[in-house]
Amino acid sequence: MYSLSIRPATPSDKDEVLGIHCNVYDGRDYLEAYYDDFITCPLSTPYVAILDNKIVGFIATLVIDDGETVITRAARINPSMSGRGLYKTLKAYALKSSNVKRHAFTKVDANPETSRESFISKNQLITSRPFVRFVFDARDLRSLESETEEIIVPTNEELTAFLSNDVIRSYLCRKDRIVVDWVPYRPIPANVPLFRWAPNRMKIFSDVSLSKEQTVKGLLTICTTFATKDPPFASNLDIFGTDVSSLRSHVVYHLRHIRKETEGAVSLLVLAEDDFDMGELDKVFQSVGLKRNDWFDSSYPERKYSIQYLYENHLV
Ligand SMILES: CC(C)(COP(=O)(O)OP(=O)(O)OC[C@H]1O[C@@H](n2cnc3c(N)ncnc32)[C@H](O)[C@@H]1OP(=O)(O)O)[C@@H](O)C(=O)NCCC(=O)NCCS
Repeated sequence: MYSLSIRPATPSDKDEVLGIHCNVYDGRDYLEAYYDDFITCPLSTPYVAILDNKIVGFIATLVIDDGETVITRAARINPSMSGRGLYKTLKAYALKSSNVKRHAFTKVDANPETSRESFISKNQLITSRPFVRFVFDARDLRSLESETEEIIVPTNEELTAFLSNDVIRSYLCRKDRIVVDWVPYRPIPANVPLFRWAPNRMKIFSDVSLSKEQTVKGLLTICTTFATKDPPFASNLDIFGTDVSSLRSHVVYHLRHIRKETEGAVSLLVLAEDDFDMGELDKVFQSVGLKRNDWFDSSYPERKYSIQYLYENHLV
């Protein structure tokens, strides 16, 4: 028997929390970069689990969708304590404390949990998005010349207008969800400020427009860049919309930003809807000298990371 206590995490827990587990998300762990935001964001509550005065577990919750949904992030348990139900206990505590009825979370296909019968029966699969990876040294990026397309950094008012228009919303948010930096939001105006949850890490570009004939053109793209362990930087580029005519400009804009923000190797994931032309994406990256680099788990090489799943369940 063990006696576990759980409390909200504090700024001074950071080093101990980062020492809980040394290989999370196959080296792409974002917690060091995000920890301070989990502490300061009023919608987020991070928790630690303590055993014998040692921090052995961590999880952060974020309440979104105008208070309707809670998501969980960055969970981890000390490997010496794994398989004893600690994660289950910590997650249940954090979800209950949020006082919210719906839990939403993302997973990757490489996670064996997603094919377990007990997992499938408990969680409703809402949508899935393919992703591909590019690994490169930001200093080597070639041909990032200026493009002439009309791509802008949209204001929150413009993003709100997109989500308030039925035609644009259903073009950008296929299953009535928009997953930004692995956080699944309902496409409602209340969530718009959260798309820039960490403004210094995130860049948003848009050339979305609606014609008189009610046809939507262009893309909305959001890229988050953060320091990791291995490689030293990671980026998530989320693409919304399927019109690829300005894709090259979006990619070039984001790569330029990544080059400004990073010094060294970057693992970039590009995520899009399942009817997005991923072949066109490959061509665009090839045109700037980058080749796709499929991601196989370094500890389990038979596990390939290539699909993002979004699940929801109702909390009792
Ligand atoms: C994943 C992790 C948090 C599990 O911790 P744990 O204390 O060993 O897990 P528990 O003993 O509480 O397992 C409880 C349940 O969670 C399930 N589980 C294990 N890993 C899981 C995962 N990555 N996602 C969802 N559920 C998971 C278990 O199958 C078990 O389910 P069951 O009760 O229906 O059989 C831990 O292995 C870890 O820190 N891994 C590295 C970080 C990581 O991958 N975090 C992602 C979490 S979403």
